[in-house]
Amino acid sequence: MMKNEPVLPRTVPETRIGVWFQSSRIWNDYVLLPALEELWRLAAGTIASNPVVLDAGCGHGVGVEWVATKAAPSKLYAVDEDQALVETAKRRAGMLGIDAEIRCMSVCRLDLPDNSVDLVICHQTLHHVTDQESALREFRRVLRPHGVLLLAESCWPFLRRLPVRLFFRHPPSARRIADDYLSLLKRHHFVVDPARVSFPRPFWTLARPSQGAGASVDSPLCHAVAVRSEGDETGDRT
Ligand SMILES: C[S@@+](CC[C@H](N)C(=O)[O-])C[C@H]1O[C@@H](n2cnc3c(N)ncnc32)[C@H](O)[C@@H]1O
Repeated sequence: MMKNEPVLPRTVPETRIGVWFQSSRIWNDYVLLPALEELWRLAAGTIASNPVVLDAGCGHGVGVEWVATKAAPSKLYAVDEDQALVETAKRRAGMLGIDAEIRCMSVCRLDLPDNSVDLVICHQTLHHVTDQESALREFRRVLRPHGVLLLAESCWPFLRRLPVRLFFRHPPSARRIADDYLSLLKRHHFVVDPARVSFPRPFWTLARPSQGAGASVDSPLCHAVAVRSEGDETGDRT
């Protein structure tokens, strides 16, 4: 290791059930694809045409397939720190004839140039990342000014539920409510328009109906469109 490279915290490996679940039809049809569709709708008018895209934490590669169709990217990168999942995602992309550069890499240390990406998709990855600050720093670094980060996260009111804790494994950094994720984005100089944020309560989260103004506090999920600000000024302009 180079002398001044940061030492990243160890990751918390997912359970075998967790890995299987994320390859299932249930995950794809009820979790992943509805979230990506909603984020795409929330982001309307913000994403460059034929963008350079990064799928950050691509898992089995279903999001890669979605974005290849939806965004018509001029270049598509996807990374995951799990080598076996990277191989699965590569096979899937190969079978579908998708031109994507899929690599084993941590989102906390991206081997991509500064200002080189128009769109980062980060679906349900951040709550597995032990060093979320480094991940956000990297997303901001690789995004061009006005580039867009589509973030979908599970929040602590959902993750702390017994069935979730029984079958899945998450690091302590996952103990965040939706507002914590919005603050994290703003701290890293992303502009978050409240009209482009949602706090969904799909049936599978077992969440009670929204309590109006306090919806973000007990929300099981947080979906946000975050736009990289131009300079280093604070993104705290909501
Ligand atoms: C819940 S899965 C989501 C996968 C995919 N985005 C989807 O929605 O199908 C979380 C993924 O994040 C990956 N991951 C966790 N920490 C990571 C890190 N530091 N860098 C890259 N990937 C990471 C895991 O290997 C896993 O594939």
